[in-house]
Amino acid sequence: MADKRDECPIRRSVVVGCGSYLPERVVTNKDLEAIVETSDPWIVQRTGIRERHIAGEGETTSVLGLKAARAALADAGLTASDIDLVVCATSTPDFTFPATATQIQAGLGMEQGAAFDIQAVCTGFVYGIATADKFLASGSHHRALVIGAETFSRIIDWTDRGTCVLFGDGAGAVVLEAREGTGAASDRGVLTTKLRSDGRHREKLYVDGGPGSTRTTGHLRMQGQDVFKFAVGKVTDVVRDAFASAGVTAEDLDWFVPHQANRRIIEASADKLGIAREKVVITVERHGNTSAASIPLALDAARKDGRLKEGNLVMLEAIGGGFTWGSALLRW
Ligand code: UT7
Repeated sequence: MADKRDECPIRRSVVVGCGSYLPERVVTNKDLEAIVETSDPWIVQRTGIRERHIAGEGETTSVLGLKAARAALADAGLTASDIDLVVCATSTPDFTFPATATQIQAGLGMEQGAAFDIQAVCTGFVYGIATADKFLASGSHHRALVIGAETFSRIIDWTDRGTCVLFGDGAGAVVLEAREGTGAASDRGVLTTKLRSDGRHREKLYVDGGPGSTRTTGHLRMQGQDVFKFAVGKVTDVVRDAFASAGVTAEDLDWFVPHQANRRIIEASADKLGIAREKVVITVERHGNTSAASIPLALDAARKDGRLKEGNLVMLEAIGGGFTWGSALLRW
């Protein structure tokens, strides 16, 4: 009997454009040797990171996000008047409120639609894709900008060598457009998303301040080894669940685009999932960990260098503070 989904047209969220922006200033591992007791070989060997971009004075998260959003719109051949939803994933908003997404909306000159932020730390972009996909699938909205934008350099304790060498700033964005699909895995667009969280792990990765507690912004704190173990041990579940839901396997995948925190985590996860190393997009060497921005930055890099092409099957996966974790399987 034919799968019922094959006969029913459904709305798919298709990526019709992508773009990114990185601040001009590049900070190398060598530069960090002057700030904390660390070394280029240690950072490269433990994380794969060689350099990261750091936002300049006045370059807030919404400034970076706006530049990425404009690039994504230009890539799609669209203007802001074509968009009715702006979702910005960030843990480093310009202000406690209003939402950074509304500042990007204003920067784009939009007076229509809805804009809001998603707070799922490094999993934010995957949460953003899942959320926008549900808005588009319901028929309530038609074209969404999904942005990941961060200025983690502003919440880093620059005296803590265990964290300050890991992070960078940047932004990436995609435009999702609702198009009719068949429901089969051969459709272009988001095929399935899997989101998880487990708030019992707060202490392992958190910021030690906030408006409702300390009335300060606070600094990032991390128990690196615990996060590492959780990342490699647990998050592969959401990737396997996505494969099962869509009826595809690791072999069908063209590209694995995981959150870029650490080369060793990325490679261990790919190996565990049976995903060939040449299918893994890695940008952590040049970007560091840009939290919610890392996946759209990696997507844009792979698209610009010609690897990522229309029709490719792509798996996104991330884990972040909370813990939150999730996957999104899509056909580009
Ligand atoms: O975005 C999502 C969340 N973040 C992550 O996914 C990060 C997950 N964790 C990691 O990537 C790794 O745990 C780190 C890269 C943070 C650390 O690597 P590790 O292999 O787990 O190192 P470690 O924490 O066990 O530290 C090993 C040694 C320690 O010295 P002792 O106690 O052995 O003498 C640290 O004090 O390395 C020392 N160390 C450093 N040495 C030079 C820690 N940071 C540095 C540093 N430079 N920057």
